Amino acid sequence: MRAVAKAPAKVILTGEHFVVIGKPAIAMAINLYSEIRVSKRDDSTIHIRSTSLKASGSFQSGTYVPETGTVDASKALQPIQMIASHLTKQVGLKDQGLDIEIDSTIPIAAGLGSSASIAVSLIAALSKLLGLKTSREEIRELAFIPERIVHGKPSGIDQTTATYGGVVAFSLDKGFETVNVTRDIPIVIGNTGIARSTGEQVMKVRSISLERPDEFNVIATCAGEISNQAREAIEKGELKRLGELMNNNHDLLKWLGLSNKKLEELISAARSTGALGAKLTGAGGGGCMIALVEPGAEDKVAEAITKSGGESFTVKTDREGVKAWLE
Ligand code: MEV
Repeated sequence: MRAVAKAPAKVILTGEHFVVIGKPAIAMAINLYSEIRVSKRDDSTIHIRSTSLKASGSFQSGTYVPETGTVDASKALQPIQMIASHLTKQVGLKDQGLDIEIDSTIPIAAGLGSSASIAVSLIAALSKLLGLKTSREEIRELAFIPERIVHGKPSGIDQTTATYGGVVAFSLDKGFETVNVTRDIPIVIGNTGIARSTGEQVMKVRSISLERPDEFNVIATCAGEISNQAREAIEKGELKRLGELMNNNHDLLKWLGLSNKKLEELISAARSTGALGAKLTGAGGGGCMIALVEPGAEDKVAEAITKSGGESFTVKTDREGVKAWLE
C-alpha cells in the first residue's frame, strides 16, 4: 500500500519579514506542487529519493548514506527523516522503515515555500499511510518541526498557506483567515536563480531592527497597514490598488536591504511592460520576484522578465491546499 499527498507552493503578496515580528501578511497558494509517495519497508531504513535535489539515499539509525553517484543531501533530508520518525513513533512503530519519494516542481531556496510544501505533503502522506486522522490544523502545527530545522524561527505563514490553500491573511497574534477572493489574481514569477537562506535573511532584518529600532518600527507599522489594505483590495477585486500596495511593500523591503541588482532588474522589466505591481517575494536577497498583471498580460510580462535574465512562469491560485490519498 502506498500513500500519496500533494501540497502547493506559495507567494507572499505583502508582509514578509514583518510577519515574523507580529505584523499581518497576505500569502497566496499557487499551482506549483510537491508530491510525496510513502510506503512501509520490511526493515528499519528510511530511504528517501528526491528528484528536485537529485538525491537518493538512506537514513540508518539517524545517519545518512547517499547512494553511489548521487549528491550528499543529508542536511536537506534530515528534517524529512525527523518528521517521519516522529509520526511512526506516534503510532507505536518505533523503527519502522519507509520509502519516501519526493517529486517537486517548486524551485528550492527561492522564496516559494518549497520546504513547507514538502513538510506538509509528507505529514499528510504519512498520516494517510499510518491511518492517523491528522486534521489540517494538526498538519500545520506538525510542520513547525521540520520548518524550525530549516529556517530557525519561521512565522508559520508558509506551511499555513501550503496546508489550507487559497489566499491567507496571517499574523502571529490573530492566527490566519482565508481571504474572500472575488476575482483571479494573475501572477507572473521571475526567479533570479540566486539561492539564499531564509534564516540568514531573517537574522539580517533582526540586526537592523536592533540597530535602528525607531526607523524600523515606523517601517514595520507601514508594512502592517499595507497588508490590511491589500486584504481589502483583494476582497473588493481591486487589482490596480493591490499592485500599488505591492510596489509600496517592495520599497520597504528594499529599505531593509533585501533586494539586489537582479531582483531590481526583473521588477523594473515587469513594471515597464505594464505590470500593476511588482516586488520581491519571500525572504529576498535573491530568489523570486512577483508581478501582478491584468488578465491577458501574463505573456508580455513573462517575456520581459525572461529577456532580463530571469526564469519566468505564470501561476494561478491553488484553492485546495494539501490533499492525500491511497493508491
Ligand atoms: C518566508 O517565506 C517569509 C519570511 O517572512 C519568514 C517567515 O515568515 O517565516 C521571510
